[in-house]
Amino acid sequence: MNAPDTRSTTWPIPTLDIRDGALRLEGLPLADIAARFGTPTYVYSKAALMAAFGAWQQALAGRRSLVCYAVKANSNLGILSVFARLGAGFDIVSGGELARVLAAGGRADKVVFSGVGKTRAEMRLALEAGIRCFNVESAAELAHLDAVAAELGTRAPVALRVNPDVDPKTHPYISTGLKGNKFGVAFADALALYRRAAALPNLRISGVACHIGSQLLDPAPMAEAAGKLRDLVDSLAAEGIPLAHIDLGGGLGIRYRDETPPAVADYLAPLLEVFAGRDEELCFEPGRSLVGNAGLLLTRIEYLKPGETKNFAIVDAAMNDLARPALYDAWHEVVEVCARPGTEREYDVVGPICESGDFLARGRRLAVAEGDLLAILSAGAYGMTMSSNYNTRPRAAEVIVDGDGAHVVRARETVPELFALERTLP
Ligand code: LLP
Repeated sequence: MNAPDTRSTTWPIPTLDIRDGALRLEGLPLADIAARFGTPTYVYSKAALMAAFGAWQQALAGRRSLVCYAVKANSNLGILSVFARLGAGFDIVSGGELARVLAAGGRADKVVFSGVGKTRAEMRLALEAGIRCFNVESAAELAHLDAVAAELGTRAPVALRVNPDVDPKTHPYISTGLKGNKFGVAFADALALYRRAAALPNLRISGVACHIGSQLLDPAPMAEAAGKLRDLVDSLAAEGIPLAHIDLGGGLGIRYRDETPPAVADYLAPLLEVFAGRDEELCFEPGRSLVGNAGLLLTRIEYLKPGETKNFAIVDAAMNDLARPALYDAWHEVVEVCARPGTEREYDVVGPICESGDFLARGRRLAVAEGDLLAILSAGAYGMTMSSNYNTRPRAAEVIVDGDGAHVVRARETVPELFALERTLP
């Protein structure tokens, strides 16, 4: 009989649990997944994806609205197909993301296109596909879009992304709604820019958009921004520029460690209040809150290296697989797939890359031996999409667990694939 496993069962991934000492996702032992598909592998739970999307749908029930999943958080076709089947729209930031959405069965007429640097070629693709709306971020972009639409003999649906100048109180790298940011058009310039857009013959003004930042844990800044947007919509209506939709962006945070993000319904309640009794369609662009806690990164310990001041667990995943710790000093929970009671020690969990910034977690108490598996939790958002091939490392495989089945939704890259597009000099 094994010693009882006293590890936490309050992990942020809702479909993760432990039975007979083994960590499981939707009941499937993660050790079996590693044996079948190798490591490092991103593993996602379809039930968790569906529950996260369901929470948004439920909180918006009865309100004309569209949830446009922010593809940048995790753009795997398998994930996109789950959301497409649930009726989601999509928020894209490139022609590449548009192609993924369409390949996964997403509908172009539910796609909104965000981003400060859309190229003419991307605009053309999106117009040809018939997307729902361009979230335009500058006067110059309005002019480009008008010209591309003219070439195609069509009118481009637009919303202006305004910068409401509120402090989202999040990490400076992921806050976007303050004056000093490159994003959106200044609130004070918005009216003038709408007038200009209204005068351009190949644009059709459809709405207004904003996005103030990511990993928001307090609904108040977003509610403040929403109030500003509503006032702008009223001013525009008074000038004869009525808007059909209001896009409130993404940003809802998740629990990585001990954060207490609001439930979707509590995050939305003050926003719905701001727009109560009005009939504009409300759009949202959540990314992290739909996928972050539906996924983990499964990795194997190659070496345990005791050090003078600390111990290292050197694993086969690295900063190229999950950049968030190196980039934002982000905290991801690390859990033994099968713990070895009695061997607990403090470790830095690091990868094999030649950089001191190559760590996944620091100062964690783990009960492990060489060859054991670790799960790096809350890695479903901005994990795989921000990965790279640094050090000529093939990127991880991706697997979606669905009940008792596990489906590879991205095969592991092979080394020859990594340089297949390269040539030696003649
Ligand atoms: N809409 C726009 C215009 C955005 O820029 C973003 C995220 C979203 C929606 C989705 O936000 P979410 O609901 O996921 O917070 N790599 C960083 C996060 C960057 C977020 C960029 N924009 C991280 O790993 O924390």
